[in-house]
Amino acid sequence: MEFKVLLSEKIKEVEEIIYDYLPEEEGKQALVMEAMNYSVRAGGKRLRPLFIMEFSRLFGGNIDEAKPFMAAMECIHTYSLVHDDLPEMDNDELRRGMPTTHIKYGQAVAVLAGDALLNYAYEIVAGAIINSSYPYKSAIAFDILSRYAGIYGMIGGQTVDVMSVNGINDKETLDFIYELKTGALIKASMMIGALLGGADEEQLLVVESIADKVGMAFQIQDDILDVTSSTDELGKPVLSDDKNNKFTYVSLLGLEDAGEYVSVLSEAAIKDLRELGMESEFLEELINYLINRKN
Ligand code: IPE
Ligand code: IPE
Ligand code: MG
Ligand code: MG
Ligand code: MG
Repeated sequence: MEFKVLLSEKIKEVEEIIYDYLPEEEGKQALVMEAMNYSVRAGGKRLRPLFIMEFSRLFGGNIDEAKPFMAAMECIHTYSLVHDDLPEMDNDELRRGMPTTHIKYGQAVAVLAGDALLNYAYEIVAGAIINSSYPYKSAIAFDILSRYAGIYGMIGGQTVDVMSVNGINDKETLDFIYELKTGALIKASMMIGALLGGADEEQLLVVESIADKVGMAFQIQDDILDVTSSTDELGKPVLSDDKNNKFTYVSLLGLEDAGEYVSVLSEAAIKDLRELGMESEFLEELINYLINRKN
């Protein structure tokens, strides 16, 4: 099957799994559930739950164990976007082709919907551990999820990102930011999938090395698209980084070299993936696709 068709089928599969976990909009607090569902259902590439699913399958796992983690990961990723778009952060008004959550629901509800998505992710996972056929392993996956989402992961990276406006111009800090703000959730996704799928410790190390490269390449490509794409195609405002005086990999290397670096990292990630010696054609194509993605 052609890769694009296969990808859209898999995204559909992922979305069905995620939507199953979303809350009913009910009770006096229905508004916050509505804002949560609006933010998650708006769209997006669903890359992180897709990585959980595909890495789980790569190692032969039953994806039933991975499903709650797929939903939880997309909730956490979506919350990070809801908060990232707030006026006090990147101040953006469009996300996934729709008005951002604070534009649609106001800032107070957007903050609460973000908080709620984070907490809801943990509610989903706690339930999953209780019902898991291998609760110890699920608890380790929970440990990975929570750690990579928090101060040693995504939040840590976002913190240095907002501290750095007009301040940094060095590669070391930039790498730190990218590894945490974007790399962390991507790495957690690949590792949770691999772990639940049955990967051993040695294989997990290879997965980590793949994730390091894909995470970095993904954020650099995001920087490139911020400059080269259109708002229509991207579903979020272009030139957001420039507006916020962000120092990015495009500022560091220039467009052409930044693009070259994305390719080099992605090829290295594919090489690592092949080292696993598993049937990984879809994942290879996915990594390649991300280099040339338009949104
Ligand atoms: C956007 O992530 C934020 C970054 C880490 C660059 P995605 O590009 O995966 O956003 P969606 O989920 O497709 O909307
Ligand atoms: C955000 O990086 C990463 C997150 C953890 C949300 P960006 O600020 O570049 O993401 P976009 O471009 O708004 O999606
Ligand atoms: Mg940001
Ligand atoms: Mg942003
Ligand atoms: Mg960006």
